Amino acid sequence: MASIGQIIFYSMVTLIIIFSTLIILILALTFSRSSSQVMSSDTAPIANLGQDELLSCFLQTSMAQASLTQASVTWEKKDHGIVYRYTNGAPDLANQIAQFKGRAEVFPLGIITGNASLLLRNVVGDDDGVYTCTIGSSNGGGTVNINLRTAAFSAPRFTFSNDTLDARASRWFPKPNVTWSDRNERLLKGITSLTQDSAGIFSVDSTLQSANSSTTYNCKIENSLVAAVSEVTVTDFGVSGKTYFTFNAASSLLASTYLSIMTSVLSICHLT
Ligand SMILES: *[C@@H]1O[C@H](CO)[C@@H](O)[C@H](O)[C@H]1NC(C)=O
Ligand SMILES: *[C@@H]1O[C@H](CO)[C@@H](O)[C@H](O)[C@H]1NC(C)=O
Ligand SMILES: *[C@@H]1O[C@H](CO)[C@@H](O)[C@H](O)[C@H]1NC(C)=O
Ligand SMILES: *[C@@H]1O[C@H](CO)[C@@H](O)[C@H](O)[C@H]1NC(C)=O
Repeated sequence: MASIGQIIFYSMVTLIIIFSTLIILILALTFSRSSSQVMSSDTAPIANLGQDELLSCFLQTSMAQASLTQASVTWEKKDHGIVYRYTNGAPDLANQIAQFKGRAEVFPLGIITGNASLLLRNVVGDDDGVYTCTIGSSNGGGTVNINLRTAAFSAPRFTFSNDTLDARASRWFPKPNVTWSDRNERLLKGITSLTQDSAGIFSVDSTLQSANSSTTYNCKIENSLVAAVSEVTVTDFGVSGKTYFTFNAASSLLASTYLSIMTSVLSICHLT
């Protein structure tokens, strides 16, 4: 037989459990309602002049609905005006500023899933600036700022002849510098010449004299925005190099995490 004391004790415990469950449920509901947010996988992208750039912007919501209704998207450039507007299921380009005519687009099928990313074609130096992406929809909305910077960058090609290792890269802007080093990151002395074309773009030619066969060297071309890091191996049969780029944008790594989370959220939505 349980004593009165025990009965009271167990009733209290039960009540406490019921109340905490209720509080957690209420908190979860409140949170899920207010948690739609507009985000970007990269808020500080660096575009390559002359190429296309995707400015990422998407609505992240915790609601398990696959599609947005009454979605509108507005892209603006700070201090300039409308870059692109999509509303009532169609583009509305009446107030689009001239700089973006025929060069900007969003993806109507993407908008349904909350993806309002802007494709900017044939990037020019004047595209530099702060862009604002605004999404409004039945599932909530918001705004994100994206600071687009422009640069020119291309991977170098390597040749080896007469004991000289040569790196040539055709397009760099702003003005880059070149550093050569060996496997142990000891700096080596290279000779670099830069030539500027009529558009101001630099071509790079850098040589490393008395380079040795069967040896791996590092070559880094960098400016204030981008670095091309190459690992070059000289063999008896020629030279092979591989290059990767790093961008001076602190937000990129964090942002790609957001992107993968978002992608999984979207795939879950499609399943349900
Ligand atoms: C948004 O759409 C663009 C263009 O189709 C795509 O490249 C990008 O990965 C999409 N982003 C997300 C978060 O789904
Ligand atoms: C090869 O390098 C040596 C020494 O640097 C130089 O004297 C010679 O002219 C070069 N030959 C060619 C074909 O460039
Ligand atoms: C090639 O090897 C020689 C002899 O070890 C060395 O003196 C020279 O610095 C090396 N060249 C380069 C570019 O590292
Ligand atoms: C090369 O350029 C980068 C970026 O502008 C700079 O941080 C670095 O100090 C420069 N290196 C040299 C040796 O000038």
